[in-house]
Order: sequence, then C-alpha cells, then structure tokens
Amino acid sequence: MSLSSGRRAHAVIGYGRLARALVPALRAAGETVVIGRRSPAAGELAPAEAVRAADWVWLTVPDDHIAATAATLPWRAGQLALHCSGATPLSAVAPAPAAAGFHPLKLLAGDADLAGAHVGIEADPAHRPALEALARAMGLVPLALPTPMSAPARAAYHAAANLAASGVLAVLADAQALWRSAGLAEGEALAALTPLTQGALATALARGLPGAVSGPVARADVGVLARHLQALAAAGLDDDLLQALARRQLALAQAAGRLSETQVTTLQAHLGKA
Ligand SMILES: NC(=O)c1ccc[n+]([C@@H]2O[C@H](COP(=O)([O-])OP(=O)(O)OC[C@H]3O[C@@H](n4cnc5c(N)ncnc54)[C@H](OP(=O)(O)O)[C@@H]3O)[C@@H](O)[C@H]2O)c1
Repeated sequence: MSLSSGRRAHAVIGYGRLARALVPALRAAGETVVIGRRSPAAGELAPAEAVRAADWVWLTVPDDHIAATAATLPWRAGQLALHCSGATPLSAVAPAPAAAGFHPLKLLAGDADLAGAHVGIEADPAHRPALEALARAMGLVPLALPTPMSAPARAAYHAAANLAASGVLAVLADAQALWRSAGLAEGEALAALTPLTQGALATALARGLPGAVSGPVARADVGVLARHLQALAAAGLDDDLLQALARRQLALAQAAGRLSETQVTTLQAHLGKA
C-alpha cells in the first residue's frame, strides 16, 4: 500500500548532486518523497526505512555502489527500482521486483535544476507511460532508450553524453591554457570564451553541425591552422586535441560542401593521420 498523498510515494536513496535536483523536481510535480541516507538528518530516514514506505525507489548513489545498495534494501512486490545512471544496466538492481532507468542528460554539480533537460528512459512497456508522464510533469523531455539496451549500445550512449558535456570542458581547458600562454588574464578566459561555445551551439541547433562549422579548417586557411599548431608547441601544450578536432571539422566542412578536393588534400597533408 502506498503512503503517498500525491500520485506515488518515492524513496530517494543517497542525497548527492543528482538527488538534490531530483527531489525538488519530484515534489514540484506533486509527488511525495522521502530521503533515505546512511546518516539521516532531521526529516530523513535510514535507507531501509525509506524503502518500506515507497512505491518507487530511486538509487541515486555512485554508479559503482548501485548494485551493492540494491542488494541491502527490503524490497516488496509492486515496487519499482530506478537508477539515474546512463552507464549501468538494469540488472544492477535485480533484487527489486521491477527496474527502470531514468537518466537526466544534464551535468549537475549541486547547484543546477533539471528543468528543460532531456531524460533517457529505459523501461518496459508496463512502466514507460508512467515514467514519461512523470518526466513531463517534472519539466523534462522524455527520450526513449532501446529497452533492453545492449552493453555496447549503453557504452556508446553514455560516451556520447560524456563527450557532449565534460568533453567540451576539456576543450575549453586547452583554450584557457592557450590564452594564458598568450598573456591574457586567466580569470576572464572562461567568461570570454564560453559565449563563443554557446553561439556555436545555438547555430548548430538552428543549422545542423556541418552548417555551423567555421574557422580556418572550414575556410581552408592552412597558414592560420599551421600557426595554431605552432602556438600549442610554443606554449608547451600537446597538439593532439587540436589535430583530432581539426580532422573532425574537416569532415563537417566536407559534409557542408564547403571545400574543393584540392583544399581537402592540402588540409589532410597538414593534419596527418590519426
Ligand atoms: N551529477 C550528475 O551530473 C549526474 C547526471 C546524470 C546522472 N547522474 C547519476 O546520478 C547518480 C548519483 O550521482 P551524483 O552525481 O549525485 O553522485 P554524488 O554527488 O557523489 O552523490 C551520491 C550520493 O550517494 C551516497 N553515497 C556515496 N557513497 C556511497 C556508498 N559507498 N554507498 C552508498 N551510498 C553512497 C551519498 O549520499 P548520502 O550521504 O545521502 O548517503 C552521496 O551523496 C549516479 O548514478 C550518476 O551516474 C549524475
């Protein structure tokens, strides 16, 4: 029996960065939530206690601890276990009567909310409609994941999400280092560079990736490209990232039909093979 006065009673086990965005979003959607923690504060419960009162149990602990946490909880018939990990199979919560994945595609560092993000949902037909409806009520955009998801598909899906978030941060770290080497104030670098990233992303959303690509590779300005590579060497930085990104930009510029065969050959000669 549910203790919920809302639509469902939820237990959220582990109160870290994801849970601190998830819990308010669930409550704002009219759901009833208890927080289960290893060291409960006032108003919170121990994990086993929280699970006893819940219909849906969210395991918002680090990926490597999802299976061990699920194994310790007192499951009962009718409960649904959910995890929010894009990298973890549903088999990790096998002790639960049923399982689903609800993976917000948003980088959460403790101060972000979920609103507007897509959420990858891995669920059987019995649970998918309720999860999609909940996602919409939370202001999220449901994204259907293949269910069941093969291990290679899961790895590819998660690698893409990581590339789109933390991968971009790694690119910006190189950009910041280059500015530092040029004597620009490091404190202003992110504020000045990230609008370039945001502008490129806005253009890509409107025109697609090939239609948005710009810069020396897309213009076949090989002299500028050569000086960029020299700048990295002069700064004592590895040019592997710039080389790899330039080869990907070349493919985008080719897809956009922006380069002649001669320009492609010249650029390839400057970039070498991966
Ligand atoms: N952060 C993101 O950007 C993001 C985005 C999408 C999905 N996710 C997913 O959300 C889940 C949680 O990630 P997170 O970023 O919120 O992690 P987190 O900030 O490290 O929080 C995880 C919480 O789990 C509990 N915990 C830590 N170690 C534990 C252990 N050994 N055993 C049991 N519980 C433990 C702790 O909560 P208590 O102190 O309350 O016990 C901790 O605050 C992961 O599956 C992750 O893949 C995260």
